[in-house]
Amino acid sequence: MFALVMSLTNTVDLVNPALSGHHAQVAFIAGNLAKEMGIEASATKQLVLAGALHDIGATSLPDRTNFLEFELNAPHRHAFMGSRLLDGFVPTAEISDLIRYHHVEWNQGKGAFFKDNPVPAGSHILHLADRVAVQIDKKHPVLGQVENILQRIKQFSGSKFNPEIVEAFFQLSKKEGFWLDLVSNKIPQQMESKFQFDTLNIDAEETLGLAEIFRKIIDYRSSFTANHSAGVAATSTALAKLAHFSEHECRMMYIAGLLHDLGKLAVPTEILEKEGKLTVDDLAIMRSHTYHTYRALEPIKPLKTVNEWASFHHERLDGNGYPFHITGPELSLGSRIMAVADVSTALLEDRPYRAGMAQDEATRILERMSKDAIDGDIVNMLKANFEEVNHQRIAAQTESGEAYRQYISF
Ligand SMILES: [Fe+2]
Ligand SMILES: [Fe+2]
Ligand SMILES: [Fe+2]
Repeated sequence: MFALVMSLTNTVDLVNPALSGHHAQVAFIAGNLAKEMGIEASATKQLVLAGALHDIGATSLPDRTNFLEFELNAPHRHAFMGSRLLDGFVPTAEISDLIRYHHVEWNQGKGAFFKDNPVPAGSHILHLADRVAVQIDKKHPVLGQVENILQRIKQFSGSKFNPEIVEAFFQLSKKEGFWLDLVSNKIPQQMESKFQFDTLNIDAEETLGLAEIFRKIIDYRSSFTANHSAGVAATSTALAKLAHFSEHECRMMYIAGLLHDLGKLAVPTEILEKEGKLTVDDLAIMRSHTYHTYRALEPIKPLKTVNEWASFHHERLDGNGYPFHITGPELSLGSRIMAVADVSTALLEDRPYRAGMAQDEATRILERMSKDAIDGDIVNMLKANFEEVNHQRIAAQTESGEAYRQYISF
């Protein structure tokens, strides 16, 4: 689970180059603070996971940079939205609370509550960890910055930060190793052993739950894409069922559908939402998204097949797809299904600026593409079962649309 969370969250950092490594850093600082304070192992683990996910609610906000400043205006919105994304996912129930309050100031102890709701002690650890991380200047040696960071934190001891946590931070800061680890790119591996994450496993059901959360992070970035992956997952799974995939394989296909556009986190919203023609640069960025999906899922060995089904959805049978130019014989049935599911969903789905295409118009395009780009047998299968498959897509996208409206109504 830890490896999966870390690679997904590193992908979330692609949303903003200034964010690169931010989630891992906050997780690392928070975990070390918890250790320093003698907090027990399972609570420490929760805190590290919360650090790894704490800003996931920021990707759907138009203002995505502000939370890297030291002084924030409106700091709670992304925190509450992040905690909402985790709602209902059992392994992260406690993490959701930690994240919801990660910008609550200590305020001489009044910060133990937020609008009458108790704030977990761990949220204040997360808060300090986050405010330390945003002060590190990547262009300069970290050890030369420690004194300034300490002074800044000390200045707000009692007001922004719980003095007990500030004290632990001072102790921790004496170790050069801590700071050097913090700016190394080996944080995930280190945390895995240090906080005993090797024992934290999730089953298939929970993997699906986590994929659902990341589906929302991917889709909810823009109203233009808000239901896209939900539709692709429903379509690809319906097609897999028709192609007699086993129940297990259908579940894998569903996860692949949810995550197929994971790499779109690296595409700026302005490009996602651009009306009219994309420039050469826009296209270049857009075309990198499946590469990022592939590299993000690559370290998760049990998801190897899921990754291929998810990441090759813009590869084409004649080798004119991207980014690896895999040709027909090497493209598995699962990858071919995903390509058809992606194209057909894109054609049929409603977007805020246009209604989806009618069946025969969409079918004509799919038929034309099946000459050299996508698999004609799968297109025929879709045509023969159009009503049923399309019904699944519409149901999934209607449900997603409802959830999206609720999510942004905060
Ligand atoms: Fe934050
Ligand atoms: Fe943050
Ligand atoms: Fe895509």
